[in-house]
Amino acid sequence: MENIVVSLSFRFQDISSSGSNSVHSMQVCTEPKVILSTDDIVSLIGNKCDGVIGQLTEDWGDTLFGALKKAGGHAYSNMAVGYNNVDVDAATRHGISVGNTPGVLTETTAELAAALTLAAARRVVEADDFMRAGKYEGWLPTLFVGNLLKGQTVGIIGAGRIGTAYARMMVEGFKMNVIYYDLYQATRLEKFVSAYGQFLESQGETPVHWRRASSPEDVLKEADVVSLHPVLDKTTYHLINKERLALMKKDAVLVNASRGPVVDETALVEHLKANPMFRVGLDVFEDEPYMKPGLGELSNAVVVPHIASASKWTREGMATLAAQNVAAKLKGWPVWSSPNVEPFLDEIKPAPKAAPSIINAKALCLSSMP
Ligand SMILES: NC(=O)c1ccc[n+]([C@@H]2O[C@H](COP(=O)([O-])OP(=O)(O)OC[C@H]3O[C@@H](n4cnc5c(N)ncnc54)[C@H](O)[C@@H]3O)[C@@H](O)[C@H]2O)c1
Repeated sequence: MENIVVSLSFRFQDISSSGSNSVHSMQVCTEPKVILSTDDIVSLIGNKCDGVIGQLTEDWGDTLFGALKKAGGHAYSNMAVGYNNVDVDAATRHGISVGNTPGVLTETTAELAAALTLAAARRVVEADDFMRAGKYEGWLPTLFVGNLLKGQTVGIIGAGRIGTAYARMMVEGFKMNVIYYDLYQATRLEKFVSAYGQFLESQGETPVHWRRASSPEDVLKEADVVSLHPVLDKTTYHLINKERLALMKKDAVLVNASRGPVVDETALVEHLKANPMFRVGLDVFEDEPYMKPGLGELSNAVVVPHIASASKWTREGMATLAAQNVAAKLKGWPVWSSPNVEPFLDEIKPAPKAAPSIINAKALCLSSMP
């Protein structure tokens, strides 16, 4: 009998199924509370629980992994690609696998970052508010003048999967040049921009270029738009602070669809107040679900409630990968060795008998697909 808890934060119900290959008992937490506390989750785990699918809003550390281990559990998956809410070392100490859901959020999150870029650069939300307030009296040459993106430079900090997908959108869509900062060389991105630049040239158009910056400062000084896509860890906490904001162009656009604490939001509010032409598009906040005082009143900020991965395809994909991460560990299946998770999403063929993505697979000496 296997017991899995899924903390989907609605009302609690018990779903039971039978069959030798299926999970025998799955409890989906459907509490009306949006965010579950550590105590709530400990009581949901109870004294018999094999695995849990949790959310990025939960603090998965020693207490929760200890409770899961005590209940006989050995599998956990975050329903997110980022896992800064998970103490992976604590999970490993308790012998619990930690899954995440890479590969299905990339394009959806990059598209939201592109949407925030356009909304901020072209003042879409301000103009919408103006229209709805009945203030529009006729076309004016100076009404909601914003920034043209074509031919400008987009800066990427954290050019991994999402940063690269976003950069490609801005290059292909708006013929922007790219400057990026990452700890590693973004070879795929560089090759793409070079090839696309050659294509544009062959069409008699101005080519696009890329440059790898040697520091975040280098990106901030040069770029017209800066989008943040690094992981959140101690190297990226408050990566954008007062001093670095001061380096940016006065009319630059800053976008954050990574994690809130990458930006010192209090410093950002001060910067937005002092620089009305500077605009920002934010999907994530330092103290979610709250905004720092003053941010909500600023018309040069576009703010949305952490919806970057909220497309139907992506949310279904995240749920599928998270479920498969837990189920595969309980079945003793190996870990998938490719970054291509498409075979898990095929609705016709059966999913591979593997766990799509286990972060501590090596530390737990789990076998991987040959
Ligand atoms: N807003 C959302 O809903 C949402 C959705 C998906 C992902 N995310 C966030 O986006 C992040 C990136 O996702 P991904 O799939 O592209 O991950 P990824 O691992 O492919 O890319 C992260 C990149 O950050 C780089 N990096 C790490 N430390 C850095 C530093 N100090 N300076 C600069 N770059 C650094 C890494 O080298 C890597 O290339 C996730 O960790 C998650 O926190 C947010």
